[in-house]
Amino acid sequence: MSKIFCAIDTPDLVAAEKLASSLQCVVDIKLGLEFFAAHGAAGVQKVRAAAGAKAKLFLDLKLHDIPNTVAGAVRAAVAGCAPDFLTVHASGGREMMCAAVEAAAKTKILAVTVLTSLDADELSAVGQGADAQEQVLRLARLAVEAGAGGIVCSPREIALLRKELPREILLVVPGIRPAGSKAGDQKRIMTPAEATAAGADYLVIGRPITQADDPVAAARSMCG
Ligand code: C5P
Repeated sequence: MSKIFCAIDTPDLVAAEKLASSLQCVVDIKLGLEFFAAHGAAGVQKVRAAAGAKAKLFLDLKLHDIPNTVAGAVRAAVAGCAPDFLTVHASGGREMMCAAVEAAAKTKILAVTVLTSLDADELSAVGQGADAQEQVLRLARLAVEAGAGGIVCSPREIALLRKELPREILLVVPGIRPAGSKAGDQKRIMTPAEATAAGADYLVIGRPITQADDPVAAARSMCG
């Protein structure tokens, strides 16, 4: 089974620490913009401490700006939080991703290709008329050329990217729902076993763990 990052999406520091502490040794943790905007690097450090030394940290900031600014943001995030993984938007371009990779030291830069919340209508409204899969592949190749260590992709793109990209490129996949759980706002979903079979290296799972009556039991059940 692929490894799992639990998406701790909350602005509540105490709740995030409690959850990270209870999930110790079961799954790794992902903190995103919602938490970072509320608590910054100091808050991230507290949650990381609660998660224990063995837990990996994925800081999902989805940076997108000019290369110089992104490089500065990556340096600051690495100095303040030392995440294992940090995200940038591939659509920021090759130069921006190269600057991020160079500034990242030991942190692995993951590239986000096309947001899973964009459907065909929205893609064409923002001027990306191409087929979504084609656009994902184009951006993923650019990210690999720029030195990114992995790609964040929807379950629908795992097979294509696994086939087209070098094996060492990590595929990190949200949109995961165990059989019978609520999809919520995720549209293109797979179960943990399906995504693993398709070739995902890491699964990103939020609400099916965080909103379960027993998050630890839920996380364990998804670890296979
Ligand atoms: O609760 P749920 O399992 O839907 O959480 C999925 C997590 O993955 C959220 O933190 C969301 O921000 C993140 N994500 C996503 N789609 C992407 C990139 C990240 O759902 N394309």
